Amino acid sequence: MRHLLNPLDFSVEETGQLLDLAKDIEDNLSKYSHVCDGKKLATLFYEPSTRTRLSFEAAMLNLGGGVLGFSSADSSSAAKGESVSDTIRVISCYADICAMRHPKEGAPLVAANHSAIPVINAGDGGHQHPTQTLTDLLSIRSLKGRLHDLTIGLCGDLKFGRTVHSLINALVRYENIKFILISPPELRVPEYIREDVLKNNNIEFVEMDSLDDAMPDLDILYMTRVQKERFFNEEDYIRLKDCYILDKKKMKLAKEDMFVLHPLPRVNEISVEIDEDSRAAYFKQTQYGVYVRMALIMTLLEVEKSC
Ligand code: NCD
Repeated sequence: MRHLLNPLDFSVEETGQLLDLAKDIEDNLSKYSHVCDGKKLATLFYEPSTRTRLSFEAAMLNLGGGVLGFSSADSSSAAKGESVSDTIRVISCYADICAMRHPKEGAPLVAANHSAIPVINAGDGGHQHPTQTLTDLLSIRSLKGRLHDLTIGLCGDLKFGRTVHSLINALVRYENIKFILISPPELRVPEYIREDVLKNNNIEFVEMDSLDDAMPDLDILYMTRVQKERFFNEEDYIRLKDCYILDKKKMKLAKEDMFVLHPLPRVNEISVEIDEDSRAAYFKQTQYGVYVRMALIMTLLEVEKSC
């Protein structure tokens, strides 16, 4: 039995196979509509979510399966003091696979250690968000036609943004990826990303605080929101929350074939005037999230590809 806790749990080859399956699902959706008949997905969300939870549920429904779960810690027995390890033992009796989001880093790993069913990390604190990364990889591959030879700009809250940490971890495994890390000094990537992931793998990267200066070089701009819920005091959040706002003026500095991604939710960091720009791909990205989660559920449940 396999889990997905970290984007590196799948090799580059396995990730490629999963993205190929997601592409086939996109092209032949109806072919997959009964491959998970009779199977159940549990969504255990101890933190807010719109896209991740609902795209998991849509994915399982598209495959013919059923869904059950809870969308906040308050509405689960966590509010009565139940541990993650007890909860997962119980859920293992009710469902065939589960997706868990939790504010504590490592909670999905604890669950996996006590689980009789595959556990998918749907975001753990400021740590990792591997299914967003699979979504991002599928988006980049579909939009640019490749996952190598790219200059990727990551902008915003690079310190607390788990999507950023997971995406960097995954992308360093492809040829000739360069990163431009755009953030205020307070929100730079954590030390372990800089030292253990980037430097140790001899990856070319620069850290800067000007989005304008970075724009002309980028093939992909990955915007992120400042992660309010991970700040220790509100003053710092208020000071930093609007540090970057992508607008038309900034988009003029970018290449014609550069694409803008964002895991969403957006707060202020992308002006709505950009939504009509053909390079704005963040809503298309959410659609890719359904195909990739369908592919992931099938892979972890070892469901046969064609019917
Ligand atoms: C992200 C998350 O939860 O980390 N959202 C998502 O899953 N699409 C990004 C965020 O909340 O800023």
